[in-house]
Amino acid sequence: MVTAKAPGKAILLGEHAVVFGEPAIAVALDLETTVTVDVGGERSQVNERPLNHKAHAYLYEAVKLLWDERGLDIKVESGLPSAGGLGSSAALTVAFVAALSKLRDDFSEEAVARRSYEVESAAQDGRASPTDTSTSTHGGAVLVSKDRGEKFLWRISRGERTWNLHETPCPDITLVVGYTGERGRTADQVAKVARFVEKNALGRDVIKDIGTVTRQGKSALADGDLKRLGALMNRDHDLLHILGVSTPRLDALVEAARPHSFGAKLTGAGGGGCMIALTEKPEETAAAILLRGGEPHIVKVNKAGVTVQ
Ligand code: MEV
Repeated sequence: MVTAKAPGKAILLGEHAVVFGEPAIAVALDLETTVTVDVGGERSQVNERPLNHKAHAYLYEAVKLLWDERGLDIKVESGLPSAGGLGSSAALTVAFVAALSKLRDDFSEEAVARRSYEVESAAQDGRASPTDTSTSTHGGAVLVSKDRGEKFLWRISRGERTWNLHETPCPDITLVVGYTGERGRTADQVAKVARFVEKNALGRDVIKDIGTVTRQGKSALADGDLKRLGALMNRDHDLLHILGVSTPRLDALVEAARPHSFGAKLTGAGGGGCMIALTEKPEETAAAILLRGGEPHIVKVNKAGVTVQ
């Protein structure tokens, strides 16, 4: 029997633009999904129900890619709020892929990150970047960029796109996540942005501006300059708003959090899901988010990434 735990993530800067080759910075969160896998039985089961490609798309694709015909008894426990934007599908995929890799006796962080990206792409529509799965695998703060830089981890390509994954320095930050209660499908939001960018020069300029903001954010993070990082997060939210992936509820929670924080923005694909605020006053920020009708969670960075026992 193998138990694997993998963290969710929050993108500090650069979501959507990263799909087009601009950089992104993501942090793993201290909210985890736990998957326990036991080999045995004729048919695979997930929490005592038959494994099914519709109900368990990510687990199904992982079995197809990595396993043989032996039955598996899979138990999933998610410690992530059931919200879009926090990488819950990446955490589930990474934990399960890590458990299967351990059972096959070929576990390594890089192999788990590569396989998890394959699985996530197969279960979604193949357009996503490896940001979520690599951050959940490695933990801490991860920089994704077109070019290879310092503290390089691995390179992942799909079609004409190549992403270089790096560890990046990160001070001990506190984030307050605010869940809107709305769900946005990542694939829909990514497709919507792709249409905007293909048809519209403004869309292409916004993607480039997000890239510039993210590069500035990388040095702010390395210097531990949270004030500057927060200002860049505010700017990034405004750019994401122009891309059309914010919602009135996301805007309302961002606005509620800003007086108590260095900066606030939507995180992940948008269209609902979550926002994050970078703050020294987590209790006050959480109270402001709650008052505006959001569901707040105070979170820290998970340094360990995926673990297997
Ligand atoms: C989703 O968490 C982040 C997006 O940039 C999509 C991706 O990078 O795969 C919206």
